[in-house]
Amino acid sequence: MKKIFIIIIGAALAVVTTAQANVSPQTLDNLNAAFQGESNAAHRYLAFAQKADTEGYTYVARLFRAAAKAEGIHRDTHKQAILELGGKIKNFQLDAVMAGTTGENLQTAIKGESYERDTMYPEFMALAKKEGAKPAIRTLLYAQKAEAEHAKLYQDALANLGKNADRPLYVCKVCGYTVTQLPANNCASCREPISNYERID
Ligand SMILES: [Fe+2]
Ligand SMILES: [Fe+2]
Repeated sequence: MKKIFIIIIGAALAVVTTAQANVSPQTLDNLNAAFQGESNAAHRYLAFAQKADTEGYTYVARLFRAAAKAEGIHRDTHKQAILELGGKIKNFQLDAVMAGTTGENLQTAIKGESYERDTMYPEFMALAKKEGAKPAIRTLLYAQKAEAEHAKLYQDALANLGKNADRPLYVCKVCGYTVTQLPANNCASCREPISNYERID
């Protein structure tokens, strides 16, 4: 009986080890690249928010702060996924931020979000799915869905710059999804209750 128990435990450990071994170094590198990208985006958007405040664009400043909050959540969920998959967080330094006018900053933000939505996250996701790396799939999906919303919100803000309605913004603390209106019950992205949403001022 004892022998069978040891064999079962051994087999379970082998499955766990195999699951981690199946995650390629490329997926861990991808998650590290995403971790660095989100860290830089959070940093950049806070500087852009300050600039928007200086220029008197109250709503746009709030939007940059909300997106910064969301990117900080993705930074943290990417980090957690790397550690869950047995990887290491690579050291890096934040890029220096060159803030332009708010119009230029919105264009920079739209470019960054569109690249992440259309190119970076789909590529990373395809490999993570092939490898069945669930922690990677979850965090990449959270980010990809939120970046798509950010791109829309930034495009709308740029199109209406100078006449933006002063709307509230809410960020899901689980997945970083960013909205101007709270959903009825659950987050449209991660499906967790709306009690996880934080209002950004
Ligand atoms: Fe974003
Ligand atoms: Fe969510």
